[in-house]
Amino acid sequence: MTKVIPLNERPAWKALGAHYLQVREVQLRKLFAEDPQRGERFTVETDGISLDYSKNRITDETLKLLIQLAEESGLRERIDAMFRGEKINITENRAVLHVALRAPKSESIVVDGEDVVPAVHAVLDKMAAFAERVRSGAWKGHTGKRIRNVINIGIGGSDLGPVMAYEALKYYSQRDITFRFVSNVDGTDFAEAVRDLNPEETLFLVASKTFTTLETMTNAHSARDWSLAAFGGDEKAVAKHFVAISTNAKEVAKFGIDTANMFEFWDWVGGRYSMDSAIGLSTMVAIGPDNFRAMLNGFHQMDEHFRTAPFASNLPVLMGLLTVWYTDFFDAQTVAVLPYEQYLKRFPAYLQQLTMESNGKHVTLDGTRVAADTGPVYWGEPGTNGQHSFYQLIHQGTRLIPCDFIGFYKTLNPLGRHHDVLMANVFAQAEALAFGKTAEEVKAEGTPDWLVPHRVFEGNRPSNTILAEKLTPEVLGKLVALYEHMVFTQGTIWSIDSFDQWGVELGKVLAQRIIGELESATEPPLTHDSSTTSLIRRYRKNK
Ligand code: F6P
Repeated sequence: MTKVIPLNERPAWKALGAHYLQVREVQLRKLFAEDPQRGERFTVETDGISLDYSKNRITDETLKLLIQLAEESGLRERIDAMFRGEKINITENRAVLHVALRAPKSESIVVDGEDVVPAVHAVLDKMAAFAERVRSGAWKGHTGKRIRNVINIGIGGSDLGPVMAYEALKYYSQRDITFRFVSNVDGTDFAEAVRDLNPEETLFLVASKTFTTLETMTNAHSARDWSLAAFGGDEKAVAKHFVAISTNAKEVAKFGIDTANMFEFWDWVGGRYSMDSAIGLSTMVAIGPDNFRAMLNGFHQMDEHFRTAPFASNLPVLMGLLTVWYTDFFDAQTVAVLPYEQYLKRFPAYLQQLTMESNGKHVTLDGTRVAADTGPVYWGEPGTNGQHSFYQLIHQGTRLIPCDFIGFYKTLNPLGRHHDVLMANVFAQAEALAFGKTAEEVKAEGTPDWLVPHRVFEGNRPSNTILAEKLTPEVLGKLVALYEHMVFTQGTIWSIDSFDQWGVELGKVLAQRIIGELESATEPPLTHDSSTTSLIRRYRKNK
């Protein structure tokens, strides 16, 4: 079993506790006044992505201690172990190699004695050939019509990555193909997705690592019924209208999809780390193989940065350490991710699974309870929309909410003054959060005394600002990898397994049992607690 030194026994942790007591009241106003270079000093950049973390409640000493904490927590060794293909997902006895999905052909990464990089590229080539056929119209449906609609059926990592990437890269997508994403077992999701589509022109990509997930299989069966109904039940149509993306060839064949139409990935790719595997097939069909490869290149550049850069200038490491600082010392419970880029509207939703399914754990690698709080709640919306809804609470509420602002120098859709107005809001929000507005400043504006407290902004609210040139496939790859490795950094400090997800199991098992109880013609014996039993009875009576 992995030996873990409890967090509160690590010297840097203890030192951070004492240091926190000294700096918790320190104002960003003061830190900036004392160091006119702070904005530049606390900005790091790699491969065209910059992170300004100067508006955080940290001093040089804080940084030094946080980096010491990373070292004492074995971050360097863990990074190396991950990239070497060691089985660091200990509870599932699996390697964690999403980094292999974007490794260039020249690299070699060995798992169980086998170099996985050639297999990765073989699947990429197969995806590319398929994507080109769909995009060019060479891939025909059962009645000889070209494919006009592509529907990805999947959930969790088999949905959130694909839908986020499609939305993020829509600018680069082939516009004469409609892309839709069905995830929810609520039949409305499927019904609305297909209501205006012609089955003869519709291709389903059934994406599921396990190919056993209840929601995905239920939707896939409904898709099969919908499709076959249009073809007089001719099973041969399945081969033209369904492909599978999975690690489970047996279940794919059982469903009736020819495994020749299956795109493979491997158990060392976690669901929430899989958007750049075959799970990204919808992305590749949308943006084309060259753009997909550019995205992989972006991922790889950030991987190399994470693997090689010193911690003090390592973007994912710094972001991970800052979250630990706020979560565990300032008792912050959430982090807001605020992309000022409409195309990134699904990015916060994508990050929710990445961060919370990874680090929502309370047990460490040695099976003991972690000595501090772990994964904060991630949430967010694109700016400027959020400013007109929840920013009030971030500015004047009682909770500390660290924010990540994400913006771009250039827009993909230049339109009058829009982009300058948008970006002015990024900088203004971060400035307002950090520096606020004092009672004196409010009074000086002639505000009546009784109104002054309402109009004061305390400030001292931390944020990161991430900037890049413009939203390209390559930049999206870098951004996602930045957050993936940030999550890994956090998980390493907390000594948790960021790559399992046992917490989703219990509800799945209970639901399986309850499905039978809801579907049974007569009421079966119900042995739940009195609340669950009466809810089931109420539903059965009224359904
Ligand atoms: O229930 C959680 C989960 O296992 C996620 O980790 C995963 O991304 C999702 O379900 C979908 O799983 P699959 O790709 O196997 O259908």
